[in-house]
Amino acid sequence: MLKEKYNFTYIDEFGDSNSAEFRLNEYHSLMDLLFDKYLQEWGDCKGRAWCGTCHIQILKGTLSAKMQSDEKHTLSKLDGVTVQSRLACQIPVNADLHNIVFKVITENDFGTN
Ligand code: FES
Repeated sequence: MLKEKYNFTYIDEFGDSNSAEFRLNEYHSLMDLLFDKYLQEWGDCKGRAWCGTCHIQILKGTLSAKMQSDEKHTLSKLDGVTVQSRLACQIPVNADLHNIVFKVITENDFGTN
């Protein structure tokens, strides 16, 4: 059976739009996928929903994965959280991700100094 390729778009910390390809269930989570293929500096807690470094905001598309209490709790402690906010480590790599657009949120987005 042919393994279909899917893709999504993410806006990186520099505001650049990037296209990324994936296969279903290729990684445990969206955080693992991005850590391995595209980004280096996030996932401090290795996907336990504790650190908040994998904060993203969904700009286009809908995810069916419901937020669990750990994710809600960690998001509640972060700056700049909106209704579009999720933790990428809590998002499975499934067909929901196809064609979504999201932004990677970093501390730089809030001009803390
Ligand atoms: S990797 Fe730590 S909260 Fe997602």
